[in-house]
Amino acid sequence: MRITVDVGVIGAGPGGYIAAIRAAQLGLRVVCMDNWADVTGAPAPGGTCGNVGCIPSKALLESSAHFEMVKQDVAVHGIEVKGATLNLNQMLTRKDGIVRDNNKGILFLFRKNGVSFYHGTASFMRRSDAGYDIRVSGREGHVLTCRHIVIATGSSPRALPDTPFDEKRILSNVGALAMESIPRRLGIIGAGVIGLELGSVWRRLGAQVTILESQPAILSFADRQIAALAEKAFRTQGLSIHTGVSINKVTTSASQVSVEYTDTDATTQRSHFDRLIVAIGRTPHTAELAHDKVGLQLDERGFIVVDEQCRTNLPNVWAVGDVVRGPMLAHKAEEEGLAVAERIAGRFAQVDYGTLPYVLYTRPEMAWAGKTEQELEAEGREYRAGCFPFSANGRARAMSETEGIVKVLADAKTDTVLGVHMIGPVVSELIGEVVLAMSFKASSEDIAQVCHAHPTLSEALREAALGVNSRSLNS
Ligand code: FAD
Ligand code: NAI
Repeated sequence: MRITVDVGVIGAGPGGYIAAIRAAQLGLRVVCMDNWADVTGAPAPGGTCGNVGCIPSKALLESSAHFEMVKQDVAVHGIEVKGATLNLNQMLTRKDGIVRDNNKGILFLFRKNGVSFYHGTASFMRRSDAGYDIRVSGREGHVLTCRHIVIATGSSPRALPDTPFDEKRILSNVGALAMESIPRRLGIIGAGVIGLELGSVWRRLGAQVTILESQPAILSFADRQIAALAEKAFRTQGLSIHTGVSINKVTTSASQVSVEYTDTDATTQRSHFDRLIVAIGRTPHTAELAHDKVGLQLDERGFIVVDEQCRTNLPNVWAVGDVVRGPMLAHKAEEEGLAVAERIAGRFAQVDYGTLPYVLYTRPEMAWAGKTEQELEAEGREYRAGCFPFSANGRARAMSETEGIVKVLADAKTDTVLGVHMIGPVVSELIGEVVLAMSFKASSEDIAQVCHAHPTLSEALREAALGVNSRSLNS
């Protein structure tokens, strides 16, 4: 039977499922097609984020932080815990339960909003007068005619050349979130977001973690002061980080994986690990779309080419999230999905890429929005910086979490906030206020004028804003 709809969304990750829900809320007839399956073969909407990304990684970061807290950090509070042991199986079961609940939650939201869900792989068949014909090959095959298409097919982990993932010894994020025992020696290629978050998880649980990074420093896209503080903190915690290396060869045997690399002194080194996580970025996923059937344009790196409104080269075909340019972040995908749904319904929508927040859920956490100091310098923009250390914040001291700073960068003439960079306790939550302020084009004075509850971590943001004009009160 041929089914005709207003909007066909391909992919039910954060980009796709949000686009589908919003389009349905706007009165359009919507289907969402997704091929992710759980271990039983049942539909598992949520994409990378829900199944093997944001949600399970944060579940393990939380659990492993509790473990480390009980083992070494509660003593300072006068709490003595002897013999704390790890039940890794329970930790993984809890994580899997959260993932399943998330899958079910999205299916519930589809039902609630009238989105029809098709479990299977969607591919273009042809363009017709009525729109685009899409084949969904799953347990039951379907052909759908969609007036508009939203492609939200996400990304896949990038492998090292000649080193495919086997998810036993050489792991992508998928295997790295599901190790059933703690590797004694864990190697990680790439000191990016995944390397640092998952490296932190397995170090806290007892692995000896070595990270090999090709850049001269970690987190080259972060503000350099924040990245330097982070690198110092991670090294102190016990992550062994080698920067400026070049990976030559990876070989696996029955018992280990060996990495040969050249270090900064041009010396060849060999390291042996029980398991190796490769986290060197991700590539756009368009493999099963049959994009050539309709002439959908990809760029030289495989991303679907879109304009600033997420329009592809084909009329009424849109693309959002990891499969298009821009940072690979769940909330970026969501914002684009939301905006595209509005545009399809004929409404105005805009994504403010300049205020997208970035967060690393390590300990200390990092969070920022806007321009870094090195970007402002490169632009020749005059700015003033205000900085405040968490060591001078009452709440952070009460928590015994005094590591880190908040830095506010403001235009030297207009005082408009250009960027805020934070490393410290729970800064993932403080960044919300920053994004709100920047969205309203706030000045540092605006933030400084606002009453912040005492004692809270958010006072550090106000103090940093006061610091822009050298008026910090508590440092
Ligand atoms: P995806 O979430 O990848 O969803 C795409 C969906 O489309 C998948 O379900 C896929 O199976 C399906 N699909 C693909 N092709 C087809 C087809 N032809 N037919 C049918 N279905 C198809 N981002 C953050 O913002 N915060 C974080 O904390 C964070 N943590 C992360 C941790 C890890 C370990 C990883 C790997 C990523 C993390 N990310 C995080 C990034 C985030 O997961 C992605 O940016 C986000 O999932 C992108 O959403 P998307 O909708 O574009 O694609
Ligand atoms: P990434 O881009 O964050 O980091 C990759 C790192 O690998 C970089 O430091 C890069 O210099 C290094 N690298 C690349 N090739 C290398 C090589 N051959 N040898 C050694 N090092 C090499 O990518 P990552 O960590 O794989 O994450 C993928 C995406 O997932 C990111 O874009 C990120 O946005 C998203 N993500 C977001 C999270 C969050 O928001 N908290 C958490 C985890 C992932």
